[in-house]
Amino acid sequence: MRETDGLLKKIGVEDLKLGMYIAEFCGSWMEHPFWRTSFLLSNPKDLERIQSSSIQALWIDCSKGLDVDHSVKAVTQADEHARVSSQLRAVAETDPHPHQQQVSMEEELLLAKKTLVLSRSAMAEMFAEARMGNAVNMTVADNIVEQISRSIDRNPHALISLCRLKKVDEYTYMHSLAVSGMMMALARELAFDEGQIREAGLAGLLHDLGKAFIPLDILNKPGKLTDQEFTIIKSHPEQGTAVLHAQGMKDDSAIVDVCLHHHEKMDGSGYPANLNGDQISTLARMGAVCDVYDAITSNRPYKAGWDPAISLHKMMSWTGHHFDPVIFQAFVKTLGIYPIGSLVRLSSERLAIVEEQSQASLLKPIVKAFYSIRQSCAITPIVIDLSRPGYEESIIQREDPGDWDLERIKMPWQSPPV
Ligand SMILES: [Fe+2]
Ligand SMILES: [Fe+2]
Repeated sequence: MRETDGLLKKIGVEDLKLGMYIAEFCGSWMEHPFWRTSFLLSNPKDLERIQSSSIQALWIDCSKGLDVDHSVKAVTQADEHARVSSQLRAVAETDPHPHQQQVSMEEELLLAKKTLVLSRSAMAEMFAEARMGNAVNMTVADNIVEQISRSIDRNPHALISLCRLKKVDEYTYMHSLAVSGMMMALARELAFDEGQIREAGLAGLLHDLGKAFIPLDILNKPGKLTDQEFTIIKSHPEQGTAVLHAQGMKDDSAIVDVCLHHHEKMDGSGYPANLNGDQISTLARMGAVCDVYDAITSNRPYKAGWDPAISLHKMMSWTGHHFDPVIFQAFVKTLGIYPIGSLVRLSSERLAIVEEQSQASLLKPIVKAFYSIRQSCAITPIVIDLSRPGYEESIIQREDPGDWDLERIKMPWQSPPV
C-alpha cells in the first residue's frame, strides 16, 4: 500500500516544485483551481496558480515525480492520522461532561460546534485518502464516533441541528456526521446495546464514503440531474463498499451493510439491489430514514431545507413503501414530533420556532414566539415552555415557512460551526 511505502508526502504549498507529482490537494475541494487533483506539475503557470490559491498544503507522490528536498520537513500520512486522532482526543479531554450528563441545548451547542469543526476536517482527510486508494483509518473514525456519541448523549438535538447548515464543499462530511448522530440516537431509542450503538454510529459515518469518487460538479449540482448523472451518483454505495472490502471488511459487517444498502426501499424500488421488506436489515432501514431526513432538512447556500416538522410529516406518508413504519416511529420519538427549528402556530395565533424539546411531552416543546398572526407583525420574541404545569397555550399545527413572508429571527443553530 502506498500509505506504508512512504512515497506519498504532505508538503506546504511553498515547497512545491516543478517536476513533483501532485496526488491530492489538502483542504476544501473548492479551494484549488484544478479539476484534476492528481497530475505531474510541469507548467510554471500551474505552479503559480496553486501558490496563489488559498490551498496551504498538498500530497505529492514521490514514486511519480520529484521528492522533497531533505531540508523540507514532509508530513507522512501516519503523522497526519496521529495529529487528527490527538486533536479529537484533546476535545474529549476538555469535555466537561464526559459521563452522559444531560445538558441544555444552549450549553451543548457550544460543545457540539467544537466537535463538528474537528470531525469535519478529519472526514475531509478520510475522503481524500479513499480517493487516493488508501484504507479508511478506523481509529480516526472511532474517535469521531466517540465524540458524536458524547454530544448526542448530553443532548441529542444540538449536533443534529447544527449539521443542518451545510456549505457546498463540506456537504457530504456534515451529512455523514449528522447521519452518524441520528443513527446512534435512533439505536438508543430502539434499545440497542452500547456496542451496537457504536456500530450504528460508525455505519452512519461511513455510509456515503463512495461519494469520494463522484465528480464534484455532479455531486454539488443544484439543478435536476440528467439520467446519466443520476446513474453515476447511484454508483456510490458500491464504490464505498469496494473501499471497505479492500480493507478486509466482509458483507456481514454493519458498516458494509449500511454503506451498500442505505438507498434500498421497503417496496423494492431502491438501489443497488432492489431489496424489499425483510431482505433489508434493520440497520440499513435505519440508515434510509436518517439519510433522507438529513438530506431534505439541510440548508444549502442556494436552497433552504424543508422545515423539520413538515419533513417528518412528508416522510410519514412514505412509510410502508419507502421506510419501515416501526423504525420511522422510533425516529420521530428521538427528534420530537416538532423537531428543533420547526415553525409552528400556537393557539394564541402566534408563530413560534421550536427551541428545545421537553422531557414531559413530545407535543409540548419549548418554543420562541416571534410573530403575531392577528396583527401581521413581529413581536418581541418570548420563550415559552409549553409543558409548564397549568399552562394552556398549545401548538395548533406545523407551518411551512415558505407560506410566510417573514424575516426569520436568527436562531443559535443557524450560524455555522465556523
Ligand atoms: Fe447515499
Ligand atoms: Fe447519505
